[in-house]
Amino acid sequence: MTLQTEIAKRRTFAIISHPDAGKTTLTEKLLLFGGAIQMAGAVKARGEARRARSDWMKVERERGISVTASVMSFGYDGCMFNLLDTPGHEDFSEDTYRTLTAVDSAVMVIDAAKGIETQTRKLFEVCRLRDIPIATFINKMDREGRDPFDLLDEIEQTLQLHVTPVTWPIGMGKTFRGVYDLLHDRLILIERGGGAKDEGVTCSGLDDPKLDELLPADAVVKLREDVEMARGLCPDFDLQSYREGHLTPVFFGSAINNFGVRELINALCELAPPPRTQAASGREVKPEEDKVTGFVFKIQANMDPKHRDRIAFFRLCSGHFKRGMKLLHVRSGKTVNLHNPVMFLAQDRELAEEAWPGDIIGIPNHGNLRIGDSLSEGEAVRFTGIPSFAPEHLQSVRPEDPMKAKHLGRALEQLAEEGAARVFKPYFGGEWIVGVVGMLQFEVLADRIRTEYEVPVKFEPTSLYTARWIESDVAGEVKRFTDANRTSMAEDHNGTPVFLARNSWRLDKAMEEWPKVRFLKTKEEMV
Ligand code: G4P
Repeated sequence: MTLQTEIAKRRTFAIISHPDAGKTTLTEKLLLFGGAIQMAGAVKARGEARRARSDWMKVERERGISVTASVMSFGYDGCMFNLLDTPGHEDFSEDTYRTLTAVDSAVMVIDAAKGIETQTRKLFEVCRLRDIPIATFINKMDREGRDPFDLLDEIEQTLQLHVTPVTWPIGMGKTFRGVYDLLHDRLILIERGGGAKDEGVTCSGLDDPKLDELLPADAVVKLREDVEMARGLCPDFDLQSYREGHLTPVFFGSAINNFGVRELINALCELAPPPRTQAASGREVKPEEDKVTGFVFKIQANMDPKHRDRIAFFRLCSGHFKRGMKLLHVRSGKTVNLHNPVMFLAQDRELAEEAWPGDIIGIPNHGNLRIGDSLSEGEAVRFTGIPSFAPEHLQSVRPEDPMKAKHLGRALEQLAEEGAARVFKPYFGGEWIVGVVGMLQFEVLADRIRTEYEVPVKFEPTSLYTARWIESDVAGEVKRFTDANRTSMAEDHNGTPVFLARNSWRLDKAMEEWPKVRFLKTKEEMV
């Protein structure tokens, strides 16, 4: 019974957005609601304090960007939230993508003046792979932005989603007065100086004369017209359709003014799904199963270079976890003893005495846990669906001191296991090829290899165009392909064959000539 109750309370989610749309600001306001922080500004301050303390990634500090995903847990109105922070910088999207495999829903933040931007779209596509339900928050309504209908239309057209406004904005920019909550028939007015006045005024509907008392005549007329039109154009809110990832409820607000945030967090409590059933090879794992299972979706290594510690971020999928449990590490068949797992509260991390499905715990380890690994109370279960992305940029890397080639090899292998980059060893030639999703990652890697492994390295551009993992259902086909293309072949850190194409023509030609071979852009991290 407790298990069911705890599951029902959990909301594990992430915020997806393009840099600058207001993710950090919204996160901060959500944490304020959850009582996890006491004052605004603490999210950034916390980041800086942590960086100053551990000093583990100089590039991050120097550039002032956040390159790591972290987890924050907080309670609000009977719900327990696990908010997985996703790095916003577009160069670090791979980590973000993987983080999205560990959530049950997402909030998409859109800048009202800009609409859907590239990064929002990319992240949305990843959510779509797993049909993750998405609530939309249209931010910065206190500034002149685009027409709300125009924005809804853009979401619908570009993301192929049904949209249902849950709140409707009254005015915009200087004349932004608040929103009307269409689900609960409530008028929520903005206070001078920002913020919502209170929980709003309950109305009997849009015809309620209270509206005429509280709003200027032209604003009421426009609100009534707009809502009538919106109701005519958009489908009614449908919980099932939202939870299946086909419909997005839309909220309008201004994160910086803490306006519209309460409606959003209430909706997450009310509508967002509790921990979902997870796909595993051979079967599905339901959260209410009494045996503990879960998977690692992120590794954060060398948070403190002096200790070489690694934290594996583990999403609990079923059962009631208690500290000190011994779990089966499915890939190796060995048992791991979880005597010091950590939970991440906004202020700090602390020992996790227990955890429930949907919760994320950090497991300190020395490199034995990898992304995609499953842990269980005995069953050889393997979770599927942790994506591995085709690198978009490929460079070769060599040590400045040729005597350090072996050290470099080891460093690269560890970084590949951690998921920080793809590393390919060509069948011919002595150098390594490193593939990343964003160019800035090369800098970060060079810095990490130098400081954490003490190997100064040089990255150099290559003429390579793309990497594709090779697979086939026909016995012997992969070997035949490999033999015929040896000079373009490499293997990744798991020993899987990879085709490195010099240009798109070469790739197209190979695909044409080898119809029985699959050239995978993304590889499921199944180990
Ligand atoms: P991000 O994490 O998505 O990158 O965005 P972040 O919250 O850092 O917000 C980006 C900028 O947008 C910040 O301004 C922030 O203050 C502003 N912002 C966020 N929400 C709102 C809003 O509702 N209305 C308006 N008008 N602005 C908003 P900045 O000048 O870049 O940074 P800062 O000096 O405020 O820290």
